[in-house]
Amino acid sequence: MCGIVGYVGKRPAVEILLAGLKRLEYRGYDSAGVAFFREEKIEIHKSEGKLENVEKLLNGRAPAYQDVCCGIGHTRWATHGKPTTQNAHPHRTGHVVLVHNGIIENYQEIKREIISKGYRPESETDSELFGFLVLEQMDRGASLMEAVRQSFARLQGACSVVIMSEREPNVVIGVRNGSPLVAAADPAGGTILASDAQPLLQFTRDVVFLEHGDIVLGTEKGLRFFELETGKPVARASSRLDWSVEKLDKQGFPHYMLKEIYEQPTALMDTLNGFLDRARTDSFPLAASQPGVALLEKAREITLVACGSSWHAASLGKYWLEKWARVPVTVELASEYRYRDPVLGANALLIGISQSGETADTLAVIREARKQGIPTIGITNVRGSTLSREADATFFTFAGPEIGVAATKTFLAQMLGLLIFSGFLSLKRDGWHAGSLVSLDSVSRLFEDMIRIPHLLSDFLGNGSSATGLAGVIRKIAAELASAKGFFFIGRGYSFPVALEGALKLKEIAYVHAEGYAAGELKHGPIAMIDREMVVVVLAPRDQWRDKTVSNLQEVKARGAIILGIGNASDEELIGLCDHWIELPSVKVDESLVPFFLTPVIQLLSYELALLHGTDVDKPRNLAKSVTVE
Ligand code: M6R
Repeated sequence: MCGIVGYVGKRPAVEILLAGLKRLEYRGYDSAGVAFFREEKIEIHKSEGKLENVEKLLNGRAPAYQDVCCGIGHTRWATHGKPTTQNAHPHRTGHVVLVHNGIIENYQEIKREIISKGYRPESETDSELFGFLVLEQMDRGASLMEAVRQSFARLQGACSVVIMSEREPNVVIGVRNGSPLVAAADPAGGTILASDAQPLLQFTRDVVFLEHGDIVLGTEKGLRFFELETGKPVARASSRLDWSVEKLDKQGFPHYMLKEIYEQPTALMDTLNGFLDRARTDSFPLAASQPGVALLEKAREITLVACGSSWHAASLGKYWLEKWARVPVTVELASEYRYRDPVLGANALLIGISQSGETADTLAVIREARKQGIPTIGITNVRGSTLSREADATFFTFAGPEIGVAATKTFLAQMLGLLIFSGFLSLKRDGWHAGSLVSLDSVSRLFEDMIRIPHLLSDFLGNGSSATGLAGVIRKIAAELASAKGFFFIGRGYSFPVALEGALKLKEIAYVHAEGYAAGELKHGPIAMIDREMVVVVLAPRDQWRDKTVSNLQEVKARGAIILGIGNASDEELIGLCDHWIELPSVKVDESLVPFFLTPVIQLLSYELALLHGTDVDKPRNLAKSVTVE
């Protein structure tokens, strides 16, 4: 999705804009640009492709920009119009220059109007049109602030805008009307704005998440907030973030994705600490500070709604909630669910899961549920995200910032959150559960195992450097499978959603065709595709489904597939069927926890295959980290 940065203050603005845009690269983009004041005029430098192209345009001139102290920058992910330099932001209309994130739904109508008034848009974007509205208002005598307010009233759709005018040098105005915008005062004097908090962290951890319908005025003196609708000043409190800027760097790993895979034990530990009241080890209550506890306790049926990897986490959640809490659960793709006419019973609870908290489809479902009076909970990794503001209550995962576009540690943290819910609801024995519950002892053991998981996973992952460690083994296997025609990931039970996630990871970062399948379903069609060039990755840990999975494996073995097995040591029968073999750790934990070991295996496999295919692992083509359009 598009990324916005704006700065006005005492520091060199060009450096700040470029560094800020780099922090936003993970959101996905296909063109970029910056605009800044030199004396009283605004210069624009923009290009299709990567940010480096803009840096090249500026290169060699950097010292000449040292005195620039006000500007805006943008990374664009094309929606209206191709990813060309002309369509790249910032856009100029006369003395007005702006960047925009989101969609102007009534842009056709606005375009007709401004053309009829003699204006000539130069790009194919909806964004540029807003500039003409502002220009027209200012030419009638309005201040920039007033012109932005009046022009915004004309727009339909969710977006945020950051804007400057040569008539008001060294002023940056930002509006949030749906799409997120975050602002902070620069302690050295000034204001910084961005689409998310990451570009701000180099200056401060105290940031303000603008509310929907806020307008912020940034000057060298700092920032002031107003209501977009009325123009009245409004007070906005800042939130203190616990994300340090060091946490955002790669710390020696070649890619963020790899770093984030290795951060999973910490992400799990922090999420356990965040969800549970760790002072109590006898009954494993949810932390009292978590505001959704009462909503969870009251639920008699649960609908989990999400997209992509979050939907895979939800699918695992269904298995766990049904097993441990005996609560009826449905799992829904947000993009489908929002356009259905679903039936929910009294005492239903809707849980929206989204690492970014900004996924448009998931948010639409939450809004609709709230309209209908259905209680909603959000699970997200991002404080201040729209999901956390709009759901009735939010549980935050504590995975820390995830920069790689592929969800890794946030996925594991979501899984853990849902497993904690399952154990917690199992302990609430108030007589309504659908069928008999597992014993209290086994729930206690489940929690004890959960608490051990970060350490066990850390041991399993090792430090990634040894040739005989997990990463080394996977690297060697990947090299042998790199030219395969395609991949099937198969599993049953808890391994099925992990198989789906394995196929998604491989597609998104290695651009290799892959499908995730329930092992029992292969013979209903896809088995026709199996031949000697097709790899079947079978997830077959020793659990209640293992024997059935091994039978399904025989079916593909007989048809010549190349088989990569992931299972437990001493499973000689399974090992005998496999051409390649990855061993899960020999640890005694409840089988509900096995997906926490299987998942890093499929993540590392996709990572290694992506390296061999030479793709842009952290920023795969065509993808965005937070998908704020439907
Ligand atoms: O931010 P969300 O969790 O709502 O995002 C949902 C999907 O867009 C996301 O999981 C996507 O599938 C990832 N790129 C997967 O790695």
